[in-house]
Amino acid sequence: MRQIGIIGLGNMGEALLRTLLSSQVQKEQVICAESKTDRADFIRKTYEVDFTAPVQVVSEAHKTIIAVKPQDAEGLLRAISPSVEDSKLLISIMAGITTSSILSMLGKPAKVVRVMPNICVQVAEGAMGISPNYHVTAEEIHEVGQLLKPLGTVVEVSEGLMDAVTALGGSGPAFVLHFLEALIDAGVRMGLPRDKSRLLAAQTIKGTMKMLEVEGMHPTLMKEMVTSPGGTTIAGLIYLEEEGFKGKLVRALEEARNRAGELSK
Ligand SMILES: NC(=O)c1ccc[n+]([C@@H]2O[C@H](COP(=O)([O-])OP(=O)(O)OC[C@H]3O[C@@H](n4cnc5c(N)ncnc54)[C@H](OP(=O)(O)O)[C@@H]3O)[C@@H](O)[C@H]2O)c1
Repeated sequence: MRQIGIIGLGNMGEALLRTLLSSQVQKEQVICAESKTDRADFIRKTYEVDFTAPVQVVSEAHKTIIAVKPQDAEGLLRAISPSVEDSKLLISIMAGITTSSILSMLGKPAKVVRVMPNICVQVAEGAMGISPNYHVTAEEIHEVGQLLKPLGTVVEVSEGLMDAVTALGGSGPAFVLHFLEALIDAGVRMGLPRDKSRLLAAQTIKGTMKMLEVEGMHPTLMKEMVTSPGGTTIAGLIYLEEEGFKGKLVRALEEARNRAGELSK
C-alpha cells in the first residue's frame, strides 16, 4: 500500500508532488495517474514515480489527491468509484467542486477532504483552506494537515467558507501583485527609474512580511510603529482612508468570493 496517490499531474499536481517529495514522502510511497502520455513520461523521468490508471491509484494508496480540472471531475470520479472504500481518503483540490457533488458523482459515501491551495504552493509558501466532510475523523484531518504542511500554511474551515478561501488565498496573489504594481508606478511617477522602483517596492513588501513573522506582531501595531505624529506615513494613510481604499479592497474580495460561488454552481 502506498502512502499517497496523485491523479492529474498538471501544474498543481506537479507542484504538490515536488514539494511532498522534498519533505517527508519517499518516491516509492507515491503512485500517480495522468491522462496525457507525454506529461506522464516527463513526470516519471523527472521524479522517478510510478504511474498507473486512476482506479488503480485509489486502490493502491491510502490517500489520493485529485488534481484534475473541475470539468474532468465527473468522468474521473465515476472511473475511480469501484476502488473507493471506507479506509480510503480522497483529497480534492478541484476548485468549486463541493464534497456533496463529489459523493454524488462517486455514487457512494466516501471520506473527502476539500483543499483550496493557491499558486504559492509551488514555492512551499501556499495558503490553503481545508474542509473535511462528516465521514472524516479528527485524526485523519490532522494527518492531511501534516501532509500539506510542507506546502505552506493550512487552515481548517467549514465548507461554506471555501469560496472565501478561494477569494483570499486563490485570487489573493493577484491582488497583492496589483498593489505591488501600484507601488512601482508610484515610484516611477515620483521620478524613480522603473527597475529601482521595482526593487524597492518588492523588498518593502517582503521586508514587512518578514518583520511581522519574526516579531510575531499584529499588523495594526506594526503600522502604528511606522506612523509618527505629523509625519509622512499618516499623510498618505489619511488619503487612502478618504478614498475608501480598505472598503474597496474588501468589496473586491467579496466580488471574487461571489464569483467563486457562481462558478461552483
Ligand atoms: N492553478 C491554481 O492556482 C489552482 C489553485 C487552486 C486549485 N486548483 C485546482 O487544481 C486543479 C488542477 O489545476 P491545474 O492548473 O494543475 O490543471 P492542469 O494543468 O490542466 O492539470 C490537470 C491534469 O490532469 C489531467 N487529467 C484530466 N483528467 C484526468 C484523468 N481522468 N486521469 C488522469 N489525469 C487526468 C489533465 O490532462 P488533460 O489536459 O489531457 O485533460 C492535466 O494534465 C484544478 O481542479 C484547479 O481547479 C488550481
